Amino acid sequence: MRFRNNAAAVRVKIEKELFMTKILVVDDDKDQLKILSGFLKKKGFDPVTAQNGVKALEEFKKNSFSILLTDLKMPEMDGEKLISEINRINPIVKKIMITAYADVETTVNVMKAGADDLIEKPVNLEKLLEKLKKLESEYFMDEESEAIMSEIEIQNLPVKIIGKSTEIKEAILRAGRVASKNWTVLLKGETGTGKELFAKLIHLLSDRKDFSFVEINCGAIPENLFESELFGHAKGAFTGADKDKKGLVEIADKGTLFLDEIGEMPLLMQAKLLRFLQEGKFQKVGDTETRYSDVRIIAATNRDLTAMIKENLFREDLFYRLSVLDIEIPPLRQRKEDIHLLTDFFLKKYGQSNFSFDDEALNSLIKYNFKGNVRELEHIVQKAIAFSRTNIISKQDLPPEVRFFREDDSSILKEKVSVLEKEMIITALEKNGWNQTKAAKSLGISERVLRYKMQGYSISKD
Ligand SMILES: Nc1ncnc2c1ncn2[C@@H]1O[C@H](COP(=O)(O)OP(=O)(O)OP(=O)(O)O)[C@@H](O)[C@H]1O
Ligand SMILES: [Mg+2]
Repeated sequence: MRFRNNAAAVRVKIEKELFMTKILVVDDDKDQLKILSGFLKKKGFDPVTAQNGVKALEEFKKNSFSILLTDLKMPEMDGEKLISEINRINPIVKKIMITAYADVETTVNVMKAGADDLIEKPVNLEKLLEKLKKLESEYFMDEESEAIMSEIEIQNLPVKIIGKSTEIKEAILRAGRVASKNWTVLLKGETGTGKELFAKLIHLLSDRKDFSFVEINCGAIPENLFESELFGHAKGAFTGADKDKKGLVEIADKGTLFLDEIGEMPLLMQAKLLRFLQEGKFQKVGDTETRYSDVRIIAATNRDLTAMIKENLFREDLFYRLSVLDIEIPPLRQRKEDIHLLTDFFLKKYGQSNFSFDDEALNSLIKYNFKGNVRELEHIVQKAIAFSRTNIISKQDLPPEVRFFREDDSSILKEKVSVLEKEMIITALEKNGWNQTKAAKSLGISERVLRYKMQGYSISKD
């Protein structure tokens, strides 16, 4: 590209750099540094190199990086130490460790040190690129969700959303993005995942925050009273209607109407709601006057609405209207790293911040499947506080369904390790032309174990 003047060229350069992801690359091997930074530049990243951990830390304090790519074995300060130092300064930076031999033990140690991913030497650049792209998008997601979290703090909003898992961050990010839009939002998730909490968050982050947030639990209203509840009624509309009554739609004017358990709404009401959503107008029961109300609808469901549509229990047109923007709140068992944060939060909430769960108790909670999600965890914490004789809560203080729960041990670390293990096995097999004897040898495991693992991970040549 040619520029008529220098200023334009400089501006484009600055703009480009502003949007390039900054990566700190650390290795004591000069040649390796050159290869990596050359490759990263070519792929549109902005790499800064350092030859040892100490220099890397200096660079890190000067610039704001999104990703750290570091060698493990280096003189003075090794990669593990560097990662833990960086974690103390800015934990949301993504970290990849380069290791010479990644056996399971090294992998576990590297992950424990706080690395987000690991890549083996000699570095396969395409694979590295794949990992960087994934971490880059995670980084930006973290940044955006952190911004929303600090907005909650700064404005002192009365909602506390605890969690640091990618899953919950994604939900927070989506809530933040949809808040300012006026469209309908559908919150999907199992019971107790926090749908109501998210509905409040969306309202509080929106321009409607100074107006009402009105909730209606569609499962709790008798069918014959539904219409009057939602749209109101005129005096004398039916027996017992001794005065005019405003409906929730009118009460929520300029604010948000939260339709909880939307799947329980009777079909006839679904049609009336659809009309209101399409035209913004309604009539009170027993009244002919057309009224208008400016409400933003947030609906929530723990049922599978698409399955209900097939059984003619839910209107398809209403579904499409409601789910313009949808947010899935993931079950707790899919974001186990949030469990200990939530237990600490609930201990504090019940005024017992001097209490803690011992490792065994915490592990039992991590293994548990939480059908009732965060609400169930909250109740477990409440009960444990009551039953524990000391301020250290142990496994015995947990309810029997947790204590005796048996399922595959699936801690986060294990999950991460198995993803990497699978990748290592495939790489070893590929490197050795799918010769299992050689691959097993290079991995330092027996052929029998290799075959067993291949079967477990469904790895085959084709
Ligand atoms: N991420 C979270 N951080 C802190 N508290 C949470 C979180 N998620 C849920 N909670 C708490 O758990 C409880 C259940 O949440 P909520 O009522 O929002 O769930 P729900 O999805 O609406 O459940 P249901 O489908 O049963 O109505 C509430 O006390 C809520 O404050
Ligand atoms: Mg709810």
